[in-house]
Amino acid sequence: MTDARAFFTDVVAMAPMAQGGNLPYRRLCREFGAQLTCSEMVLADKLVKGGEGPLLRHHESEDAFGIQLCGKRKESLTEAARIAVDSGARFIDLNFGCPIDLIVRRGAGAALLKKPGKLAALVAAVRAVVDLPLSVKIRSGYNEQRINAVDVGRLAEAEGADALVVHGRTRAQRYKRSADWSVISDVAEAVDIPVLGNGDILTPWDLERRRRETPVRSFLIARGCLIKPWLFRELATGDPWQPTVAERWQVMARYLDFAREHFGDDEKGLGRCRRFVIWHLHFWHRWRPFGEADFLAHLPESLIQMRSADAAPDDPEQALLSSGDEADHEVIWRRLVDGDHPGA
Ligand SMILES: Cc1cc2nc3c(=O)[nH]c(=O)nc-3n(C[C@H](O)[C@H](O)[C@H](O)COP(=O)(O)O)c2cc1C
Repeated sequence: MTDARAFFTDVVAMAPMAQGGNLPYRRLCREFGAQLTCSEMVLADKLVKGGEGPLLRHHESEDAFGIQLCGKRKESLTEAARIAVDSGARFIDLNFGCPIDLIVRRGAGAALLKKPGKLAALVAAVRAVVDLPLSVKIRSGYNEQRINAVDVGRLAEAEGADALVVHGRTRAQRYKRSADWSVISDVAEAVDIPVLGNGDILTPWDLERRRRETPVRSFLIARGCLIKPWLFRELATGDPWQPTVAERWQVMARYLDFAREHFGDDEKGLGRCRRFVIWHLHFWHRWRPFGEADFLAHLPESLIQMRSADAAPDDPEQALLSSGDEADHEVIWRRLVDGDHPGA
């Protein structure tokens, strides 16, 4: 096995995520044990014109940081890959899964799943200019009539990809259905390079189930770590962590510390911190103290698919942290900045 393959073997990685994968949040997830971290999606066409620069930065604790590129033109994608390498990436990821209309209409992201030959040529072109580990992120297919992850995966492997990241949904499905791990499993059977399975992992039991039921040995986590950044520690140890209210405040305060350090502590910096904290609260408030019995009761779905309609907890502090109400999020933000909370 080459080193590049070893790099992607038996790892639990934090997914590339626009907004969610901001540098301070990656730093927090790294601290909780994310083995690989990745930039938000960088548009190759913009990068080569001098844009997207801030997205290339990483924190020194991110010792296995990758840059994700999205594009459909060989010239810009290869030039962007060179820029990414020069900026200190440890690996490059190519995004052929992006479902956003604007991207797909231009023929990039998931649109390339409909043109496997073109996708393979892009992988080959980037491979030719990049010595770093190279991963290729795909979906199960463009839509349910075109499930082609196995074919696309084989082509990418043949053109020199060192790993495949497979999100077990089609472009058309968005998040409405659970990820289909049988497709991910088929890809892992069909190729020799490591496959990072992606979709719906929220608890240590999800990971244990996928390890038991599929040949997949590496995993990529997105919404799960937006809901609870400590998921990486749970996955590494196998032990669920049900934090107290004070501990939840401490985790949020830790994020704010990192955000202040990164964005600055002046009015402008704090404005950005506020924007990101409020953004993260849309995910953080969804945390619930699920146990193994909840996990088993919802099989075969993952708990992440559950839209919790449960009553607000009695304890007012618990209720505040569980609230999806924007006014409550502003209260939390203020109390974080003032250090006025039980975790302080
Ligand atoms: C807020 C958010 C932003 C995302 N941005 C990206 C992105 O920039 N590039 C990418 O390849 N996938 C992106 N994704 C998709 C995730 O990487 C992942 O494939 C998907 O969410 C499924 O994993 P999950 O079930 O663990 O959430 C994003 C997902 C979320 C929730």
